[in-house]
Amino acid sequence: MKTLNVSLADRSYPIYIGPALLGGDYIRRHLRASQVMVVTNETVAPLYLNRVVDGLSGLQVETLILPDGEQFKSLAVLERVFDALLKGRHARTTTLVALGGGVVGDMTGFAAACYQRGVDFIQVPTTLLAQVDSSVGGKTAVNHPLGKNMIGAFYQPKAVVIDTDVLVTLPDRELSAGLAEVIKYGLIRDAEFFRWLEVNMGLLLARDVAALSYAIERSCNNKAEVVAADETEQGDRALLNLGHTFGHAIETATGYGQWLHGEAVGAGMMMAARLSAAQGWLDPGLLGRIEVLLTSARLPVTPPENMSADDFSRNMALDKKVHDGQLRLILLNDIGKAILTADYDKQLLDNLLKEQCRGDS
Ligand code: NAD
Ligand code: GLY
Repeated sequence: MKTLNVSLADRSYPIYIGPALLGGDYIRRHLRASQVMVVTNETVAPLYLNRVVDGLSGLQVETLILPDGEQFKSLAVLERVFDALLKGRHARTTTLVALGGGVVGDMTGFAAACYQRGVDFIQVPTTLLAQVDSSVGGKTAVNHPLGKNMIGAFYQPKAVVIDTDVLVTLPDRELSAGLAEVIKYGLIRDAEFFRWLEVNMGLLLARDVAALSYAIERSCNNKAEVVAADETEQGDRALLNLGHTFGHAIETATGYGQWLHGEAVGAGMMMAARLSAAQGWLDPGLLGRIEVLLTSARLPVTPPENMSADDFSRNMALDKKVHDGQLRLILLNDIGKAILTADYDKQLLDNLLKEQCRGDS
């Protein structure tokens, strides 16, 4: 078992990574009082809820099972969490436990941020994507029909408990979606990790335990460093959004849930790399390496066929990185070196969108 730390002064917290952690005392040791609500969904509950509840025996534990899917990451479903907390008379000292992927984690975290103006919560991520990214760093949110993750809060968990055993039941497509965020760390700040991924992608896809554990740990280390330096995204944390402006446009335009978040980010990172090369900022020779790695992770490298350049422009204009009417993008100078900038040629962006969108007639 490895323990990493997210260093945020009095709000610092551990990330536990290892096998068989679900039934251990890793949640229990971070509780403020005996009241707990475990929030999960209808897919994860039959697989792992009992293990978590067993580990909390003797405490006042309630469970809440939400519908499964990105389309349920909404204010309406969030209200069900508040209903359950109020009906169960949960006090300010209660702790919410998010057992599931990024959807459950983001929603439960936001519920914790809001309920009685803030109660404790613990992340127990069960997808690769949630283990390497969404459970760490305190971004919590729900979607709005007009934009992804548009309603939320920065609110840090008290601990992140990553049980690597749960990945055995994860569908292949979800594993690949998680690998998109893993590749992201290599692209934005860790060239050596990118090279490791080029060599070890086969092992990751075969779910080799040692390889997966190493990738999770290295990803969480990268994320923890970025978050510790810029918790509320005043600067470098935005680099974690490489490919996300294109990706969120894909998710919003196609309807949440059609493309997985990680798939949209995969195609989005390739689009960002192509724009960087068109701009002359990234050696075009590196595009091939990026495309090969994404493809080997079984991720898409082009946008959905039915999306038009207009669909992209309209949805990208809603991005949270729009500043004074200017859309800022994360672009690449090299593998391992990313920048946040509004200083790219808008015509090159338009050209890229037109060239990439086969939905345009
Ligand atoms: P998800 O939560 O929808 O989970 C994917 C699917 O896997 C779901 O059907 C889920 O029920 C199922 N599942 C979960 N664990 C399983 C397991 N162990 N075995 C079998 N099935 C399992 O999707 P996700 O990819 O985990 O998360 C995507 C969400 O995370 C998006 O909403 C995205 O916006 C958000 N996100 C947030 C951050 C952040 O910093 N907060 C970062 C990245 C992504
Ligand atoms: N996933 C982006 C971030 O946490 O900032």
